[in-house]
Amino acid sequence: MNIITKTILSTLGAILIFYSILWFFPKKKIVYMSDETLREYALNRGLAPVPKTYPKLLELADNPQNPLSPAKIALGKKLFFDPILSRDNTISCANCHKLDEGGDDNLPTAIGFHGQANPKHLNSPTVLNAALAKAQFWDGRAKDVEEQAAGPMQAPFEMNITPKLAVQRIRNVPSYVAQFQRVFGEGNGSVTFKNIQKAIGAYERTLLTRSAYDRFLEGDNNAISQSAKRGLNLFIQKGCKGCHTGISVGGQSIQRFPLRRALSDIFKTDPFPFPNTGGFLGKDSQKLFRVPILRNITKTAPYFHNGSVKDLKEAIRIMSKYQIGKEFTPKQIEDVEAFLKTLEGEIVEY
Ligand code: HEC
Ligand code: HEC
Repeated sequence: MNIITKTILSTLGAILIFYSILWFFPKKKIVYMSDETLREYALNRGLAPVPKTYPKLLELADNPQNPLSPAKIALGKKLFFDPILSRDNTISCANCHKLDEGGDDNLPTAIGFHGQANPKHLNSPTVLNAALAKAQFWDGRAKDVEEQAAGPMQAPFEMNITPKLAVQRIRNVPSYVAQFQRVFGEGNGSVTFKNIQKAIGAYERTLLTRSAYDRFLEGDNNAISQSAKRGLNLFIQKGCKGCHTGISVGGQSIQRFPLRRALSDIFKTDPFPFPNTGGFLGKDSQKLFRVPILRNITKTAPYFHNGSVKDLKEAIRIMSKYQIGKEFTPKQIEDVEAFLKTLEGEIVEY
């Protein structure tokens, strides 16, 4: 045998060995589980239903630094809807967080005081179930809903009020003063900016939604369709759940996006698979984002931090390609969308 034949034979041999090794480690196939196994699998991996009762709500969502009470929740609700907390008395929290429309404004970017758009072109996230998140805002810069509430009141492009003016306004309304005194029991000192934040935060802690998905997790096999069950299988087994987890199906961590590069993006300069209007790059400008909450996602289009993707299917495709590293087929996207639809719910009356 001459040297050329030898090289050819050993190369062929190497290729043969390589492929037989691959054959021994076949690609992980998705195994669709029975309803019972799927439910158990989900419940054992951090997914869980939203509670139905007030005592269970307290266990889940109470804040020791701001204990919930029915009177505090009622006060917070009034403040949430009251434009008195904006400089020109025209904008309340509910302007951008419409509770009957998924808890957001359905605009690509938020519009606030005197028609100003968010300077970073940020999309309003939903307030529904937001209290269950470990951090608030797209970059996770506020630790809870109480701390968060101070932001929009003061932001010049949102409600544009100062803490001093907000307190003065409330002190001029005798019924508010009486209510603050009853709730906080701090006499004449009850109306403070901190207590305004606390009351609003308390109300937000009750803004949880229940849907067909919760009923499925509680044992009702008929609550969701076969397609939605396949979607939930994919959501768990392909790793979406790794980031979009917890009772709120998101909000538990800060993660990089896009996580993986695609070959087709080698010559692109935009860091995202969509135009990054506003230039926002997340926490520390490191493309780190608080993972969005997926409950009610079918009602909170457009998607992503700058609202540049209108279609939920396209958002799912982008996620599978850039976060999972393998683009879903149209059929898989349909199933995941069917699953996400089961997260569309109603606010629980506690
Ligand atoms: C002008 C529209 C606008 C108004 C008014 C407004 N928000 Fe927001 N809200 C936004 C935008 C935009 C964001 C995201 C901003 C960011 O991440 O920097 C946001 C974020 C939030 C979040 C974080 C949700 C999450 O999952 O991270 C909560 C909670 C919230 N707002 C509650 C409130 C409350 C309470 C008020 C009233 C005191 C209020 N908002 C007023 C537009 C608005
Ligand atoms: C590594 C973490 C990670 C994984 C895995 C992941 N996501 Fe996401 N997802 C994110 C982050 C972070 C964002 C926000 C990115 C942004 O807006 O810039 C997001 C955004 C989304 C949005 C848009 C939410 C909104 O309110 O605008 C949807 C829908 C979504 N993901 C679904 C999925 C699905 C389906 C999968 C599985 C195929 C998945 N995600 C896998 C981290 C992840």
